[in-house]
Amino acid sequence: MENKNMILLILTYLELDDLARCELVCHRWHYFINQDSIQTRKIFSKFTYNSLQQFKWHTKKIQQLQIKDLIFYEEEFKVDKNDIIFTISQLVLESLTIKLNQLNIFDQLLINQKQLRKLEILMPITNKEFQLLTQLPHLEEIHLRVQKKTDENLKVSQLRNLRAISLQLQGIQYQEVLQLIQNCYKTLTELEIDADEYNHDQMLQIVDCLNKDKIQKLYIYYFNDYSNEIILKLSQFNKLNKLSIFKAQDIDQDYMYQLFYNKQFQEINLNQCDGITNKVLYQIAQNCQQLKYINLSWNFHISDQCVSLILENSKQLEEVYLIGCKQLTFDCIPQNLNGLFQKLRMLNFESCNNMNDDKLMKLKNQFKYIKIINYYGDEIDKF
Ligand SMILES: *[C@@H]1O[C@H](CO)[C@@H](O)[C@H](O)[C@H]1NC(C)=O
Repeated sequence: MENKNMILLILTYLELDDLARCELVCHRWHYFINQDSIQTRKIFSKFTYNSLQQFKWHTKKIQQLQIKDLIFYEEEFKVDKNDIIFTISQLVLESLTIKLNQLNIFDQLLINQKQLRKLEILMPITNKEFQLLTQLPHLEEIHLRVQKKTDENLKVSQLRNLRAISLQLQGIQYQEVLQLIQNCYKTLTELEIDADEYNHDQMLQIVDCLNKDKIQKLYIYYFNDYSNEIILKLSQFNKLNKLSIFKAQDIDQDYMYQLFYNKQFQEINLNQCDGITNKVLYQIAQNCQQLKYINLSWNFHISDQCVSLILENSKQLEEVYLIGCKQLTFDCIPQNLNGLFQKLRMLNFESCNNMNDDKLMKLKNQFKYIKIINYYGDEIDKF
């Protein structure tokens, strides 16, 4: 029954609030919303309650749907925290994204969650709270995205055997990060770090500690002290397919070339990397069949021809950022667009003063689903 599958598919995109409303539409919708087949879906739910009644609906529904993946943002709760703790403790979560503002209930929420594999924390956290994570036997992925709250240095080195780590927060001591990486040497495939506080030699050590034959994703944010040596080390990571080295400057093109030589990437952020020349980009273009995302913003040395080649060769491309590439003209768009741009959702030419709106408009008319951004940073609209 095609119709049924369609309805189920749509329902998986709804928030609990929407589901609560939809449930009241008719018997048929009520039936769909309360049946088993949506139990295993991911539910993205931001909890903002205006009334106790609403919360009670959620409580009932949360149990019934056996949610495994929960996003929990505390925003002006008017309900008793024990109700929340009770509700969530009934679930067997595999993934939790959490942001608490006022309520101090992190430890109570984690008590029963021994199946957690992935945890994303969007709030300041103390060492005492952090220690609870060591008691989660299946934890393999951790994302910390917070500003430092206290003077306490977060002891991240307590954790071991993680598969993915993302530390986008200030003030984690470099020794802690190093130790954490060493603890996860055999398992770690994905790492994201904010590195603004680390100097060149510290970064070199971090890179040295990573497993060259294992790392697939490496995103380094706000690091200001790249060198040829660091890039050379990265070029030896043979599984690397997602890379962000924002602002890697004063790098020789030969090192950049080596970094991409004969490798298939899915995501590349080369924002403000002055070693990215046509020779390097050509190398990327030759091997970009898997490429989904590329950011070449503020690179002044790349030509229309190379960009065009990438747009032509990467059939999987979803997002392209060319902000501030002032030298580019409309010639960077391939002449023959047959079969291209099937997955493209974003094409950003902000601050590219040679990109002419009329031509972008034509492109937009041909590909209505692409968000095209013009020189002024505005989205080109079909009139
Ligand atoms: C790409 O680079 C630009 C320019 O620095 C930046 O503003 C933008 O956030 C980047 N895009 C993504 C998705 O990372």
